[in-house]
Amino acid sequence: ELASRAHQQNIVPVVSEAIKRAGIRKEDIDAIAFTRGPGLLGSLLVGTSFAKGLSLSLGVPMLEVNHLHAHVLANFLREPDEEVQHPSFPFLCLLVSGGNSQIILVRSHYDMKVIGQTIDDAAGEAFDKCAKVMGLGYPGGPIVNKLANEGNPKAFQFARPHVGGYDYSFSGLKTSFLYTLRDELALDPDFIEKNKADLCASLQHTVIDILMKKLRQAAKDHGIKEVAVAGGVSANTGLRDAFHDHARRYGWKVYIPKFAYTTDNAAMVAISGYYKYLQGDFCSINAVPFSRITI
Ligand code: KG4
Repeated sequence: ELASRAHQQNIVPVVSEAIKRAGIRKEDIDAIAFTRGPGLLGSLLVGTSFAKGLSLSLGVPMLEVNHLHAHVLANFLREPDEEVQHPSFPFLCLLVSGGNSQIILVRSHYDMKVIGQTIDDAAGEAFDKCAKVMGLGYPGGPIVNKLANEGNPKAFQFARPHVGGYDYSFSGLKTSFLYTLRDELALDPDFIEKNKADLCASLQHTVIDILMKKLRQAAKDHGIKEVAVAGGVSANTGLRDAFHDHARRYGWKVYIPKFAYTTDNAAMVAISGYYKYLQGDFCSINAVPFSRITI
């Protein structure tokens, strides 16, 4: 409810500011792209209704965008006058956020197939929940990342999952992290304070190891060397380093969005709408949002 209220309060000023900063008039807009889902339904309803109002008032069509597609397509964003290489199809994309951990086979801008995903917690959730038990703030991912830079990644060993195929699991790691804290705190009440950096570094190292192992296997099995990353957790500097390391070791060509485009953002929705616009893939004014939809 708080999120939808914030959307309601901010949507008009944010869109006005975006139009102003883009240096255009609203009459220059050719179509309105909006997120249909997945996400929090209240916020999606605000966006969808606003998109309908703007589309009717400007007399331009609407383009519905899948939030997960948009994360993947963030890899096609570039700044004006910037020379960047985009992934070539087919490529693999590791989508890691607070709600998702998936390996996606991307065959075109709109032909995407999830070939592996978490069977329980997402990678971001593992960071956030472990940070919470250490008494760090929310979201925990960026705080763990910062502390991890000063810690020893081999200081602690945590459980690794045994799930088949390209699927992930992070609940065992979370439990093993919790039990380590419980056992150590019984011996030393200041354990967390004294070992914060090492705990964060070891946690981050384990999460990255789990993510990269399945991604490596998927890349090998599919004979693909074009590998991208997306979602809030791709802001993690350790994960970014692991991608560069894999590029050197396995000859991968890796694609990592700029920090601003890793977490939820409107630019990724706009570029997803752009590719749909090129195909004339518009949606009806009766479109409704869904909190749960897959790729
Ligand atoms: O894609 P995203 O912005 O939103 C949703 O999932 O809705 O992802 C947010 C997630 C959170 O779990 C946050 O802790 C994590 O991304 N995250 C990070 C970092 N920055 C954000 N996790 C690890 N290291 C980071 N630097």
